[in-house]
Amino acid sequence: MPRLFSYSDFKDGSKSVIQYADKHSPIIICSESAQRGVPFNVKVQIGKTVKHPNAVDHHYQYIQLWNLETLISEIKLQRASFGDDPVHIEVQFNFIPKVSLRLTALAYCNKHGLWKSEEVFVKVYDNQDEEEQQ
Ligand SMILES: [Fe+2]
Repeated sequence: MPRLFSYSDFKDGSKSVIQYADKHSPIIICSESAQRGVPFNVKVQIGKTVKHPNAVDHHYQYIQLWNLETLISEIKLQRASFGDDPVHIEVQFNFIPKVSLRLTALAYCNKHGLWKSEEVFVKVYDNQDEEEQQ
């Protein structure tokens, strides 16, 4: 089992350690609720404020989106498609939710390993009326 790194593992470190964690950490951006059976969009961005290198010997190779222990989808990244400069890589996942979600993104840097996002909860409703009653 590989080690999984997360921003919270490094948040009490020095400024350079925090920047290292920032540029490696995937962030999930999506609505807090979704309608069952309707396509739902989730954006994952690598790094909140610090861009990650995108060099031949140091870059991100894939991003996965999980619901607890179930893999929803995986996007393989072609390094050259994102230029040669440091970058906030962003990808979009689109899928049809069946149950409420506890989402986690995993992203793999070929030099610094596997990084996980914070978990994000998404309540899935049967219809719009049910959502508005909450
Ligand atoms: Fe890295």
